[in-house]
Amino acid sequence: MTDYVSVESSPTQISQLRCIGCGSVREKAEQDFRCPDCGDLLEIVYPGWNTSEATRPGAFQTLWRQRRTSGLPLDQSGVWRFREMLPSFSDWQRIITLREGSTPLYEMHHCARAAGLQQLYAKHQGMNPTGSFKDTGMTVAASVARREGFRWVACASTGNTSASMAAYAARGGMRSLVLIPEGKVSWGKLSQALDYGALTCQLKTDFDGCMRVLNEVVQRMPIYLLNSVNPYRLEGQKTAAIELMEQFDWQTPDHVIVPGGNLGNSSALGKAFFEMKQLGLISALPKVSIIQAAGANPLVRTMRENGGRQLISVQAETAASAIRIGNPASWKKAVRVLQETGGAVEQVSEVEIALAKAEIGADGIGCEPASAVTLAGLKKLVKQGFVKSGESVVLILTGHLLKDPEFTLKFHRGDLFSRTESEKEAEILTAQQRAPIVLDASVDAVIRTLKEAGDRSET
Ligand code: F0G
Repeated sequence: MTDYVSVESSPTQISQLRCIGCGSVREKAEQDFRCPDCGDLLEIVYPGWNTSEATRPGAFQTLWRQRRTSGLPLDQSGVWRFREMLPSFSDWQRIITLREGSTPLYEMHHCARAAGLQQLYAKHQGMNPTGSFKDTGMTVAASVARREGFRWVACASTGNTSASMAAYAARGGMRSLVLIPEGKVSWGKLSQALDYGALTCQLKTDFDGCMRVLNEVVQRMPIYLLNSVNPYRLEGQKTAAIELMEQFDWQTPDHVIVPGGNLGNSSALGKAFFEMKQLGLISALPKVSIIQAAGANPLVRTMRENGGRQLISVQAETAASAIRIGNPASWKKAVRVLQETGGAVEQVSEVEIALAKAEIGADGIGCEPASAVTLAGLKKLVKQGFVKSGESVVLILTGHLLKDPEFTLKFHRGDLFSRTESEKEAEILTAQQRAPIVLDASVDAVIRTLKEAGDRSET
C-alpha cells in the first residue's frame, strides 16, 4: 500500500488564480493567498472549459463511474476520481491521498418527521479519514504545498482543519504548525493533531485571533498556509457536491443545507454546483442555505442588515466550537452562493443545536454539534415555508460524532445548560436525554431497569 499514486496522465486542464474582487488573473499566489492589487481572495478558474469540456458531460459521468472499480489510489479517492474538475498535476505520483471522499448519503427518517418533511437526506462528510469534510480539501492543498517544495504547512483552526492538515502533512513528509484557541477546541480534535505530529500552539485568543497571528507568521516564514483562504482547499471540497449529484443520479435536489463558520465550505459547494451547471452535468442549481449558531452569526447579520455588501464581524460564542468564528474569511464567496442559488441564511440557538444533534443521533447517524445546525436550521426554514414538505433536501453533516464526545456526554447527563441562561429553554431536551445508569452487578437490577425502560417506551 502506498499513498503516492501511479496513474496514466489525465487530460490537463489549465487552471488560473483569479481575484474575486478586481478580477486580475495570476499563475501563482502570494503567501497569504490575497490579491496583491486589491487584497481580496482568489479563486481557481478553468478557462479551457468554455470550449471543449462543456460538450462532454456524459463522458465524464461514465469515466467517473468506471473509476470506482479501479484499484489505483488516485481513483479510490472520492476527490481525485473527479480530477477533470480539479487543478491538474504534471506528476500525479506526488499526490497525498488518504482515500478521502466517497462518503455515504443516508435517508433520515426520524429527522424528516422532526422537520415536517416527507423525505430527508444527509451526506455525511464526517465519514472522511480524519472524521471531517476538511480531508477533501486537504488532499489537494497539501499536495500543492509539497509540489511547491514547502517543508512546513500551517493553519489556524477550531480543530478539524488542524487534525486534517496534520494527517496529510505527516503522510506527505512535511512538518505542520497548528494555532488553536486555548480551551476552545474539543479534545478529540486536539488529540488528533498531537498524534499526527503537529507542532501545536494553543494561543490565548479565539479563532479569529489565531488567524491574525498566522497571517503575520506566513509573511515572515517559508511556511504554506492551509486555511480555506487557500483556494486549492475549496477545489477539493467541491467534490462533495459532485459526488452528491452522482448519488442523486444527476437530478438536482431542491435544497442543500450547510453549516457556516469561516464560510469556505458553503463557498466550495456553491462553486461546484455553478461549475457542474456550466459543464452541462446538471440542469438546475439547488438552493444552498447556510446556517450559523446565533452566537456566531456574522453572515446572518451581514445579509439581514446590509444585504451582503459589508461584513459585520461579531464576538463569537457557541458550544458548537467548530463554528465559533466571528470574522469569516470567505464571506463574499458565500454571499454570492446565497444570491445566485436563492438560498436562505438562518441562525439557531444553543438548545436548538443540542436537540437537533440528538435527533440526528436517533437516526443512528452521529455528528458533531456544528453539523447539527443544519437540521435545526431546516426546521426553521420549513416553518417559514421556505422549504416545502414534498421538496428534496440534503443536510451536509460536516464532522463525526466522536470529534466532541464531551458535548454529547454533558447533553445526556443534563449538564449542558445547567446554570446558564438557557436552562429553562433546555427543559424540552429531557425526552432525548439518556444518561448512563449505574447499577450493582446484579441480573435482577438489569432486568428491572430493562422492564422499566420497556414500560416507558409503551406509554
Ligand atoms: N462544521 C465543522 C465540523 C467544521 O469543523 C467547520 C469548520 C464548519 C462546519 C464550518 O465550515 O468554516 O468552511 O464554513 N471548521 C474550521 C476548522 C474553521 O478550523 O476546523 P466553514
